[in-house]
Amino acid sequence: MNSAQRTQTATTAEPQLPLRYAPTIAVDDAAEAGPQRILVLGATSGIAEATCRLWAERGDHLFLVARNADKLNVVAADMRVRGAGYVDTAVVDLDDTTKHAELLAHAVNSLAGLDVAFVALGVLGDARESELNFAEANRILQTNFVSAVSLLTWLGNFCAQRHHGTLAVLSSVAGDRGRKSNYVYGSSKAGLSTFVDGLRNRIDREGVRVLTIKPGPVKTAMTEGMRSSDKFADVETVATSLVKAIGKRAGVVYVPGKWWIIMRVVTLIPEFIFKKLDL
Ligand SMILES: NC(=O)c1ccc[n+]([C@@H]2O[C@H](COP(=O)([O-])OP(=O)(O)OC[C@H]3O[C@@H](n4cnc5c(N)ncnc54)[C@H](OP(=O)(O)O)[C@@H]3O)[C@@H](O)[C@H]2O)c1
Repeated sequence: MNSAQRTQTATTAEPQLPLRYAPTIAVDDAAEAGPQRILVLGATSGIAEATCRLWAERGDHLFLVARNADKLNVVAADMRVRGAGYVDTAVVDLDDTTKHAELLAHAVNSLAGLDVAFVALGVLGDARESELNFAEANRILQTNFVSAVSLLTWLGNFCAQRHHGTLAVLSSVAGDRGRKSNYVYGSSKAGLSTFVDGLRNRIDREGVRVLTIKPGPVKTAMTEGMRSSDKFADVETVATSLVKAIGKRAGVVYVPGKWWIIMRVVTLIPEFIFKKLDL
């Protein structure tokens, strides 16, 4: 199906998705057989954009969702230039969960199916403000946890019904243990990681892969200006690990891999010592 035909499919899509697309090939075979149909939620994220570049270069089909139209247009144009087989976009504030079902149905119809959904949206928020003011804590929890849960509930059921697909979710090492410096953000990611663990254990037997990605600090807009940010991982390193992990059967991946060891040590520190540390 060419781009023009797909665009036509998108414009005639029903708002609520009927069970229209049955799996035709398994994900492993699909990777070898041809382009993957990939939905990216939070496509203007630094990590997501670097990952999309790799997907575009191998000719995959992309449906990109973000809330900033200008930034999204730049990313979409770049993906077309890099060789993506198909690119469609939607501008949506994903904090509005009432829009999710219609958006996801439209995306799947536009892609004529779904092989991979990548949930990348997130906010760091203002840690100090979130300690003092519930409105800021609520904003962080809404984007990082509630909105992601809403998206993944729809996507998990969609993929389980078809016994097909991979859901890749950007959580964070910050969710592995509450620290005094960012426990509201950390708890939003802890909740997300636990939700994704449970979802994996529910739908793995249906043939759906659910991958939790836990990056350590990465050089993106989110961490710009932070102390020692020049030592953070590059988005390209994270993107390469992420694309590899999606091609394997891993459930939880730390990127870079050294963060698995670091977080094992961090979670073993007794609480009476941990509360004295400035972390
Ligand atoms: N950078 C790190 O050190 C790091 C480490 C661990 C985990 N992570 C996680 O990795 C993910 C990507 O982060 P990043 O580092 O790539 O940061 P980023 O460049 O700041 O990307 C975050 C993206 O989420 C989007 N977003 C936020 N709220 C949204 C909403 N309501 N609707 C639609 N899009 C929304 C942002 O859109 P706008 O541009 O419109 O704001 C932005 O594109 C996040 O979940 C983050 O928590 C990052």
